[in-house]
Amino acid sequence: MTRLIVMLLFLLQGYAVVAATGQPATPDEISKGRTLYERFCLSCHGENGVGESPIPKYIRAPGYLTAMPLNETSHAWHHSDEQLVDTILNGLQRTKRMPSWKGVLSEAEARSVVGYIKSLWSSRIIACQGPRHMSCM
Ligand code: HEC
Repeated sequence: MTRLIVMLLFLLQGYAVVAATGQPATPDEISKGRTLYERFCLSCHGENGVGESPIPKYIRAPGYLTAMPLNETSHAWHHSDEQLVDTILNGLQRTKRMPSWKGVLSEAEARSVVGYIKSLWSSRIIACQGPRHMSCM
């Protein structure tokens, strides 16, 4: 009986991991995502998601936000796949510099971009993605 409960707990834990991070993207999705990333995102978020070079404060307009890295050195991985897709499709309230890509990218395309971004992260970071980042590191 105890064994059965332990097994069930393991299964549930596995389910929670998949539910929080979504299914891993296929190589095909990652390569589609990369093409879209290079076309629409690279100009700000940089090659391989390294982020934008900061613009010196004295020539920056007030409220101007620099595009942070999307690789694992910033906090893109603190967000779940769903939150990342939502940011891509709907943009960010805090800055018009991160536009809404709805109408340019379909939801499936936004997911493949997320798949590409995650291909830049190590497995340790992927295991800690989303709400789990609080207790993971
Ligand atoms: C014109 C510049 C620009 C372009 C192009 C752009 N972004 Fe952004 N992005 C930003 C800025 C600025 C922020 C917000 C920075 C901040 O809040 O400090 C941002 C934030 C984000 C965030 C939130 C990350 C986090 O850690 O909270 C994601 C995800 C993101 N962008 C993905 C994308 C993707 C994917 C594309 C291409 C489809 C894209 N961006 C294109 C400027 C841009």
